[in-house]
Amino acid sequence: MIIAVDGPTASGKGTIARALAAHFGLPHLDTGLLYRAVGRQCALNGGNPDDPADARAACTFPDSLLDDPELRSEATGGLASRVSIHSDVRKALYERQRSFATQPGGAILDGRDIGTVIAPEADAKLFVTASVEARAERRHSEMLEQDRAVSIEDITADLAARDKRDRTRKDSPLVVAEDALVIETSGLRREEAIAAAIAAVDALLAEHR
Ligand code: DC
Repeated sequence: MIIAVDGPTASGKGTIARALAAHFGLPHLDTGLLYRAVGRQCALNGGNPDDPADARAACTFPDSLLDDPELRSEATGGLASRVSIHSDVRKALYERQRSFATQPGGAILDGRDIGTVIAPEADAKLFVTASVEARAERRHSEMLEQDRAVSIEDITADLAARDKRDRTRKDSPLVVAEDALVIETSGLRREEAIAAAIAAVDALLAEHR
């Protein structure tokens, strides 16, 4: 069984995907982390994330980079969004995501294009979203917990810019898959969002049976 969870930054899709993985006993891949690693490697190489060749060269990052705490920063999220518009980067990361999705026993992946490009045959597709304000507030609290000083205004501006880039890029933009169930998490507490996601997946699986 493959479960695809897509949605914009800080929508709660990562939390939901991890909870679904635990509930259904499936391995989970946070595909945003791969794009973050490319963005970070590009910066470490002294490359320009907007340059297709520099971004492509950064796709050969060491696996140890995936454990770098800097990958979770807002700055790296911005770099990830910039390198992710290049088709060569998306092609370079495709196989790794595809083989994770099609492993025996199934998998759950979260990202932007899982239900549309990486695993269009997924048994259940969720699109997790929330208002920019709710997402900025969540991201702001996360940053405060990590002692990272960022203003809510800067986070809001950054989220809006990334949303626009992710939704309007030519290759694999962030869109709601036709057969996805939308979960709007703005007014929901963590446990409520998780319960809504489990119920949605159960309903989608029952439909497929
Ligand atoms: O989910 P995230 O914030 O960690 O993702 C960082 C960036 O990576 C996001 O702005 C766009 C890109 N991304 C993508 O293009 N496709 C994916 N499947 C996952 C992330």
